[in-house]
Amino acid sequence: MNKPHAAASDFRLDSLAEEDLSLPASRETAVLAGRARPTPVEVPPVEVSLNSAAARSAGSVARPAIPEYLSKVYTWAYLTPAYSRYLDTSFVVSAILWGNANRLMRAGFSEFEAGQEVLQPACVYGSFSSKLAAVLGPKGALHVTDVATNQIDACRTKLAAFPSATLDLADAADPRDRSYDGVCCFFLLHEVPEDYKHRIVKSLLDATRPGGKAVFVDYHGPSLLHPLRPIMIVVWRLLEPYALALSDNEIRSYAPPSLAEEFTWHKETYFGGLYQKVVATRKGEGA
Ligand SMILES: C[S@@+](CC[C@H](N)C(=O)[O-])C[C@H]1O[C@@H](n2cnc3c(N)ncnc32)[C@H](O)[C@@H]1O
Repeated sequence: MNKPHAAASDFRLDSLAEEDLSLPASRETAVLAGRARPTPVEVPPVEVSLNSAAARSAGSVARPAIPEYLSKVYTWAYLTPAYSRYLDTSFVVSAILWGNANRLMRAGFSEFEAGQEVLQPACVYGSFSSKLAAVLGPKGALHVTDVATNQIDACRTKLAAFPSATLDLADAADPRDRSYDGVCCFFLLHEVPEDYKHRIVKSLLDATRPGGKAVFVDYHGPSLLHPLRPIMIVVWRLLEPYALALSDNEIRSYAPPSLAEEFTWHKETYFGGLYQKVVATRKGEGA
């Protein structure tokens, strides 16, 4: 059973101001020092090309709305370019994951091979996308989507050296109009409410071809004696309120039962159970 969890409380980045005193006097500096309000990414009512071929051939359709949970809980992390500029580094990703970032990325990437077409349904800070694109090689193709324009723009820069990589604005919970040899969903599920977890898992499984793998790397419930357990529970309650559910629920449980039956499921945990990789392989020949 999926259980509801506490709501997020406000988060302040005041502490970051003390970390880099050498920054030039600029709006970003003032923002990080708490003297100026950050500028969340603007979502002008323009029309853009989306991930839907039908939409493309018809011209264009409205961009996906920023989900309410994202603007309520994660504006500071993902929708405010002044902050993202400093957060979007491999060092930050490694620190957030207690030094396990490379290990967890390797665990995810090991499920894919050169020449495959792989969907990454949400951007990741640092060098995740370029590393995955390198695994797929020039004959493969990485397709990155995200619901936030500023994240797509930043990722486009990172993937400049990979001409076969493509990027689109899309909500990971929405149905896709095409399928892939694989899907690599890295630390997205813990950031979304329960109804979104269900919709995202369904959408990504639907997008996986027979023989292909949907790979989910994310938080998991750490063992009772894990020394970081009390810290992580506080962090989740304060900053990541939708992460606690992954301590109680199997990722498989978010899939509609009949769809789950079309896959074989394998779970591995890492770092005393704090992290997990779930690989859902679609039955049948293909990828
Ligand atoms: C993959 S998650 C977290 C990854 C990891 N914590 C990191 O270091 O980047 C972050 C991304 O998910 C995106 N995101 C959140 N909800 C989404 C959704 N429903 N559809 C697509 N992208 C989403 C955010 O815009 C953000 O770029």
